[in-house]
Amino acid sequence: MRATWWREGVFYQIYPRSFQDSNGDGVGDLAGITARLDHLNDGTPGSLGIDAIWLSPFYRSPMADFGYDVSDYRDVDPTFGSLREFDRLLAEAHRRGIRVIVDLVPGHTSDRHPWFLAARSSRTDPKRDFYVWANPRRGGPPNNWRAVFKRVGSAWTLDERTGQYYLHHFLPEQPDLNWWNREVRAAIDDVMRFWLDRGVDGFRVDVASGLIRDERLRDNPRFQLLGRPRRRNWDLDEVHEIHRGWRKVLDSYDGDRMAVGEIGVRNLRRHVRYYGNDDELQLSFNFRFLEQPWIAQRFRAVVEEWERLLPAHAWPDYTLSNHDRSRAISRYDPERAGVAAVMLLTLRGTPFIYYGEEIGMTDVPIPAERVVDVDGRDPERTPMQWDASANAGFTNGHPWLPLAADHTKRNVAAQRDDPASLFSLYRRLIWLRKSSPALRRGSYRTIAAPRGVFAFARQAEGERALIALNFTKSAQVVTLGTGDATVALSTDHARDGEPLALASVELRPDEGIVVEPSRR
Ligand code: GLC
Repeated sequence: MRATWWREGVFYQIYPRSFQDSNGDGVGDLAGITARLDHLNDGTPGSLGIDAIWLSPFYRSPMADFGYDVSDYRDVDPTFGSLREFDRLLAEAHRRGIRVIVDLVPGHTSDRHPWFLAARSSRTDPKRDFYVWANPRRGGPPNNWRAVFKRVGSAWTLDERTGQYYLHHFLPEQPDLNWWNREVRAAIDDVMRFWLDRGVDGFRVDVASGLIRDERLRDNPRFQLLGRPRRRNWDLDEVHEIHRGWRKVLDSYDGDRMAVGEIGVRNLRRHVRYYGNDDELQLSFNFRFLEQPWIAQRFRAVVEEWERLLPAHAWPDYTLSNHDRSRAISRYDPERAGVAAVMLLTLRGTPFIYYGEEIGMTDVPIPAERVVDVDGRDPERTPMQWDASANAGFTNGHPWLPLAADHTKRNVAAQRDDPASLFSLYRRLIWLRKSSPALRRGSYRTIAAPRGVFAFARQAEGERALIALNFTKSAQVVTLGTGDATVALSTDHARDGEPLALASVELRPDEGIVVEPSRR
C-alpha cells in the first residue's frame, strides 16, 4: 500500500468558532487559528505534532446551524475573516507541514443562498430544480420523511408563495439540494475546484451518505427489522456514483488530495461499500466505533469486523469525538482519557482528534439562557482552554459559549510542562507514531487477552508494537507473547522505558501501554 500523508498522519478537527478569537467579538476566527498553529505542530515534540487539520465550515452563512447552512460556498463569513486570511492560514499551515482539509456541505444550502432565493421565486425559475419540491399530500407534507434534528419533525416545509413543499433533512433554513440534477453535481464540483485551486488538501464531506433520495419520494417503511425494508431517503445505491465523481475531481489534481466522508451508516457491510473499488472517497468515519460503550470486547469486536470487511486498498480511520457528539471522556469518564488516547493513536487507521481532546476538555453544562444550538450540541463546542486567564486566553470579549468551570486548571499552559499531563501523553503518542512504521502503517492482529483488556499487535517491516488497553478499574495481567520487551509508552509516563517479560505484563487500572519486543 502506498504511503500517503492521510494514511499515516494524525488529523485534528477545529471548530473555528471555538478555537481562538483574534478580534474580541467572542467568536473564534481564521486569524486566531493561524496564531495558534504552533500548538498543533512547530516541528518539535513540544508541540502536539499533528499532520493535518479539518476545519468545520467558515463560509458565508446566516448561522442557523453555525455554518452548516452555507449561503456562499466561495467566501469566508465575516465572523471568521476573509479569503485573504484563509490563504494566510493555509500558507502558514503548509509551511509547518500541516495539511488542511475543509468541510464540504453538498447536501443542502442555506435558505438565503442565491440558488434557493431564485428557486423559491417561482415554479418555473431555472433554479427551481436545484432543490426538491413536491405537492402537498392530503393537505400535508408529501411523505413521511423525518428531519435528522428531532425537534424539526417533518423533513418538509410548505413554501406558501408557490404552494409546494421543499425538502430539508435538517433545519427548514437548510433546503436539500436535488442530487438527481446534473447541474447541481457540476455546481458542487466547481465549489471543490475553487478550494482545490486555492491549495486545500481535501475535504470532509458532510452527510455524504444522504444526498440522494428516492426519486419518486415514496414513504419510508414504518417498521424496519435488521435494516429491512430499506429507508428511501438514506444510503441509496445511487450515492456511490456521486462519490466516484468527486474522486475524479480530487484525482485530477496533483499532491494527493483526499476526502473523508461523514457516512452515517451503522451496518458495516453497507458502510464498506463507500470505499468502492478505490474510486470513491479515500476515508470515511466509522460511527459504530465512536458509539461503543466503554467495554473492551465491544471495541475489539467493531475493529475486528471492520478489519475483516475492508478490502486491501481501503484504509480505516477512527475518531472518538466531534462537534456533534458528547465528548468521549464525558461519555466514558475522565480517568479513561489516557487509555482512550492510546487506543485512538495506535489502532491501524488514521486518527482524528477533536480540539481540546488533548487536554481532556469535557462537555460543559450550558445554562438554559445560553443555549444556542437547535440540537443540543453546545456542551461539546465550548471555547478551547489555552490558559488560566479570564476566558482561558480564547477571547478578550464575551465568549459565544460559556467556558468550562475547570478552565483555570485544565488548560494547555498548565499541562505543557507537566510530564504526567494528558497533553504530554498525546504528544508522546503522536511523536512515537512518527518514529514507528508499525504504528503508522503496520498490520493489525488481535491478541487474546483477559476480559476487560483489548490487546493487539501492529507490525511493519520487521518492526512490531504490542498494545494493551486496560478498560477496567483493576489491575490485569496479560500475556502479549514470549521474550523480553520494553515499555515504549504508558499512560503512566513513569513506566516508559521499563523492561518487561512479554509472558506476563501487569497493567494498572485504566492503563494503556505500547510495548516494543526486543529483537532477537
Ligand atoms: C452534519 C454536521 C452537523 C450538521 C449537519 C447538517 O451532520 O456534522 O454539524 O448540523 O450535518 O449540515
